[in-house]
Amino acid sequence: MANVILVGAQWGDEGKGKIIDVLTEQSEIVVRTAGGNNAGHTVYIGRDKYVLHLIPSGILRPGKVCVIGNGVVLDPVALVGEIDGLEKLGVKVTPDNLRVSETAHVVFPWHRELDGQREVRKGTNKIGTTKRGIGPTYGDKAARVGLRVIDLINPTRFPAKLKERLEENNEVLRALGAQPLDHDEILAAYTRAADRLRPYVANTVVHLHEATRRGANILFEGAQGTFLDIDHGTYPYVTSSSTTAGGACTGSGVPPNRMDKVVGVLKAYTTRVGEGPLPTENAGVSDLLHGMGREFGATTGRARRCGWFDSVATRHAAMVNGIDELALTNVDGLDTVKTIRVCVAYRVDGRTVQHIPNDWEVLARCEPVYQEFPGWEVSTETVTRWEDLPVNCRHYLLSLAQLTGARLTIVSVGPAREQTMFL
Ligand code: GDP
Ligand code: IMO
Ligand code: MG
Repeated sequence: MANVILVGAQWGDEGKGKIIDVLTEQSEIVVRTAGGNNAGHTVYIGRDKYVLHLIPSGILRPGKVCVIGNGVVLDPVALVGEIDGLEKLGVKVTPDNLRVSETAHVVFPWHRELDGQREVRKGTNKIGTTKRGIGPTYGDKAARVGLRVIDLINPTRFPAKLKERLEENNEVLRALGAQPLDHDEILAAYTRAADRLRPYVANTVVHLHEATRRGANILFEGAQGTFLDIDHGTYPYVTSSSTTAGGACTGSGVPPNRMDKVVGVLKAYTTRVGEGPLPTENAGVSDLLHGMGREFGATTGRARRCGWFDSVATRHAAMVNGIDELALTNVDGLDTVKTIRVCVAYRVDGRTVQHIPNDWEVLARCEPVYQEFPGWEVSTETVTRWEDLPVNCRHYLLSLAQLTGARLTIVSVGPAREQTMFL
């Protein structure tokens, strides 16, 4: 399968976890390269549901090696909890199948606290973060005051660094009117987590380099989505990492000329969780999907905002990620819709625009220009071959691919592995 970068081409939750699980069959190594436990990747194996936050979804297939790359921000207590949770479900997580980068940055309780405090201060302008401390941790990384996994697992260096960082952050918290955090509690919890994680920690850049030299197939598991990217998203309503294809290189240390293909994952409609502009948001689509018990966040449980497919956005995603192939998921979500709408342009300030505006306030004023497609109005959930999909469904999906500007290769009509078709 060669080295494949998989990205979310919308606002996150496109079904990346499911597609990763399917594609892992053909890969040897799966690498997470950005974000932290703000992600929630859902995989069903039979009736069993797994939600992965920090550990790559590839962990569910025996014999695969998973890597948490240097671009990830890692909450060590949450990671230990996730390892233990998987073990309880019968999934073995050992230093043989999980490697953690020594240079990934560590999330501390003050990052979570600051994340929450900043949201409160923003009031109605809040981002709607997952409150996992992601923004403040990447902020410290960029400001060069962050602690990395290599510091966490060093028993002599860690206590001194922790003390210094906590002193400064407690001053900030007091200034914001928040409670300072307890040193001994953090030291104890993080030392315990460090002791558990030490055997997993490795120089993952060298490990991945050796793997590419012997021709191993590597799958780069994207988290979040293109429009949550710190550079290419709807700033400031974004996360704090590079969620687009380039982030797979910087977040793993595998260079661009070792990458073979970019797969973009998209829903057959649009969802977004958290605040920020969403031009095709539609109450009818939200009611339909929520009524089916779908589109509730895998990490925070929040109801996702839903709307029609936005091809202005996905065309942009194809451009900034260099998407070669598309995986369209949740097609079955539209099974009952009589007439399906797709946004093909925006109208704003009396003009028609074909590109997503960079100013979020302008994007928030954009009115979608819709093209209508006849629905198929039968269940697709049990269809296993592309040729057996209703003709209106095939026409709709091929139109989405054409509007987006990439080749459709995977179609998903349900959460299970078997509900996947290859073109
Ligand atoms: P991710 O963050 O991109 O991995 O996506 P999430 O797991 O947060 O959300 C996607 C949701 O859609 C999960 O509940 C999946 O089980 C579900 N899902 C993925 N593909 C399909 C599909 O084709 N049909 C249906 N019904 N559900 C799907
Ligand atoms: P996966 O990998 C959907 C959103 C949050 C918020 C914004 C910033 O499951 O697709 P953060 O906590 O990162 O500072 O929040 O980004 N967000 C996601 N939305 N899927 C995700 O991950 C997300 N990770 C962050 O809701 O709007
Ligand atoms: Mg998710």
